[in-house]
Amino acid sequence: MLSEGDNNTLTQVGPGTPMGTLMRRYWIPAALSNELRADGDPVRLMLLGEKLIAFRATDGKVGVMDHRCPHRCASLFYGRNEEGGIRCIYHGWKFDAEGNCVDMPNVPAHQDFKHRIHAKAYKTVERNGLVWVYMGDQSDIPSLPEIEAVLLPPEKMEFNFAQRSCNWVQALEGDIDTSHVDFLHGGARTERAYAPDDPRRWGAINRSPEYEVKETGWGVMYGAYRPGGPGQTYWRVAQFLFPFWTITPSGPFGDHMYARAWVPMDDTHTMALRVLIRANRPPNAGTEVNLDKVQPNSTDWYGRWRPETTAENDYLIDRHRQRTDSFSGLPGIAPEDQAVTESMGGIIDRRLEHLAPSDRMIAATRRTLLSKAGALANGELAPANDGALYAGVKGGYFLAPDELELTDAYEHASIAAGKRQAPVG
Ligand code: FES
Ligand SMILES: [Fe+2]
Repeated sequence: MLSEGDNNTLTQVGPGTPMGTLMRRYWIPAALSNELRADGDPVRLMLLGEKLIAFRATDGKVGVMDHRCPHRCASLFYGRNEEGGIRCIYHGWKFDAEGNCVDMPNVPAHQDFKHRIHAKAYKTVERNGLVWVYMGDQSDIPSLPEIEAVLLPPEKMEFNFAQRSCNWVQALEGDIDTSHVDFLHGGARTERAYAPDDPRRWGAINRSPEYEVKETGWGVMYGAYRPGGPGQTYWRVAQFLFPFWTITPSGPFGDHMYARAWVPMDDTHTMALRVLIRANRPPNAGTEVNLDKVQPNSTDWYGRWRPETTAENDYLIDRHRQRTDSFSGLPGIAPEDQAVTESMGGIIDRRLEHLAPSDRMIAATRRTLLSKAGALANGELAPANDGALYAGVKGGYFLAPDELELTDAYEHASIAAGKRQAPVG
């Protein structure tokens, strides 16, 4: 449980809030590069409670700015994206991708003051098929996060956005709670569903793992562990990385390259970005990663990447399947996670919860986020965030000799995978 005040601090991301201020010190993956065409239609983008427009200018540069025109606040969404900038249709003022006013055609030349006018534009960068936005202090910009999965070339990667109609924290908490996997997703699966050498069978045999949790330089790590055969322990290790990233143990530790960002659109809407290796994309159900099927995008503030399953259609639950071959009755892993987290309401009232030992990672992550946001609000946090902190951080499942603690088990798996291990702590 969490007090009302702490819950507000944890969940609210608008301008001036402690968590919103923390979020604004990190690069935010905001859109696919191919959502924006040079001189194409502007896109409405809702990020951290701010209504923005995104457009690609004639030279390919991406502009992301407050949608309100600095003249008299008409929405630039209706603007003309032409010849190197976006032109407001009300009185014709024009802005380049950096937000500079480059034309003020309704004012006589001798009274023109366009050099003093700037749209509230944010720094953008494109890398590997994604548009990133930095919404914090534009004079103190950190490096992009070197999360393994987002560094790979675009032809190797697959990006999927999917919207959740709920607060970002409860959506993210589904990724750091491994004990739901063998119920919500795998409750109907027995050990026989797995090959004899597939470590995941140990999760079907024992559905109540113990947990070890550790704060790290990049966030929080946990390992869920349970017996894995004679002399061996079955580990599922996952990561929370500031401010909204997770790496779930949804693949074998060695070649699992995967990450998810839970980007707050506002306090009750979240855009989840899933990054995975194309080669590892599982062909169908029965695997741990299952993608959201989405509706066609609309131009609404909440119109991008909405799943086909919604609260209105009860997430397409099939009660017959629930009684026979599926624990949840829902049509796949993504709708299962979506249904449970959205069913909690827009923002969970965390005074009503009863956390269990299986929620240790969730409690630790909340604590870490609150203390970081608090330190920032008190002026106790150093300014720049170093993207290199994330290099080599991994998650996944593996077997390790009994009696290892989390840090040693993580090192054991990293060495076995031939990977450089990021220093924990
Ligand atoms: S409101 Fe945009 S030019 Fe006047
Ligand atoms: Fe899940």
